[in-house]
Amino acid sequence: MLPNSAYVFLIYFLSALVFTLAGRDFYNILGVSRSASTNEIKKAYRKLAKALHPDKNQGDPDASQKFQDLGAAYEALSDPEKRELYDRCGEDCLKKDGMMNNADPFASFFGDFGFHFGGEQQQHETPRGSDIVMELTVSLEELYNGNFIEITRNKPVIKPAAGTRKCNCRQEMVTRNLGPGRFQMMQQTVCDECPNVKLVNEERLLEIEVEVGAPDGHKTRLRGEGEPHMDGDPGDLVIVLNTERHPRFTRRGDDLYTNVTISLQDALTGFTIELPHLDGHSVTVSRDKVTWAGARVRKKGEGMTNFENNNLHGNLYVTFDIDFPKQDFSDEDKEALRKILKQAPNNKVYNGL
Ligand SMILES: *[C@@H]1O[C@H](CO)[C@@H](O)[C@H](O)[C@H]1NC(C)=O
Repeated sequence: MLPNSAYVFLIYFLSALVFTLAGRDFYNILGVSRSASTNEIKKAYRKLAKALHPDKNQGDPDASQKFQDLGAAYEALSDPEKRELYDRCGEDCLKKDGMMNNADPFASFFGDFGFHFGGEQQQHETPRGSDIVMELTVSLEELYNGNFIEITRNKPVIKPAAGTRKCNCRQEMVTRNLGPGRFQMMQQTVCDECPNVKLVNEERLLEIEVEVGAPDGHKTRLRGEGEPHMDGDPGDLVIVLNTERHPRFTRRGDDLYTNVTISLQDALTGFTIELPHLDGHSVTVSRDKVTWAGARVRKKGEGMTNFENNNLHGNLYVTFDIDFPKQDFSDEDKEALRKILKQAPNNKVYNGL
């Protein structure tokens, strides 16, 4: 038998141990390394939130806990200040400093109503506010590397207010008795009385993912972030990607096109150039043969990443044009050039090819 105080101590000790173990490993939950960038953390959250959403895991009794853990991990690691504190002394520190406010980041990625499971078109019985379509201009760099864009939206939200209002209004046929054997049928608007509501602007932070390889015009739908409807559900916010013109590359499907001007000397004798790509890596283009104006070199796999299958890549096509020397040549130089080139005059006169 142990004295009572020993038991108390033992219990205290055990609970302290459990408490320490309960500090969750947020990096592990998100499946990212401790050096992960904020974008990697956002990407991991977005992917796992879809997979672990309790609506999708109704057979799993731990689903809601797992989803909460994920939200907490995201909250702590997506904010540099909280992340630093967490790295230093774990979840308990964040809790002590009152920095975990259990905000649910899910809606900022998918909208208030989440996303369609299965994707079948919902038959709306209830009226619905209209969708808002917003164009989002993105750079080719963002489409090549992927990015998250934060949008702050002032969203009108329906809140309770004093009094009542007419609602669920509909047309009904009513019959009026005008005397013996005489009736009048007429259409009338009939309404219910509902608790009153008002629209209040709320600031919302939305996170739009620019997915790697997304095509121009790609749409992201944020459910319930559109126009509100007094008697029903809000519409959606639809974000449409619009690719900004790039100074060096043109995109067609998964292929990229670029033009390079080379000197006449390089065109005749060969050259090696380094082209900076959209993520900063260099693409080496090297030739030792003669390069004529309009010649095109294909760099396999140096195009965009395919949107559906990120293991596939398009090509990069480099077209050359030639910068001719502007200076006049001396008679000796001209003679020397003739000797080297030995080109017969080719005075073909033509129209088109
Ligand atoms: C390359 O040059 C051609 C011809 O001038 C032009 O039509 C095309 O848009 C250019 N492409 C890029 C990527 O600059």
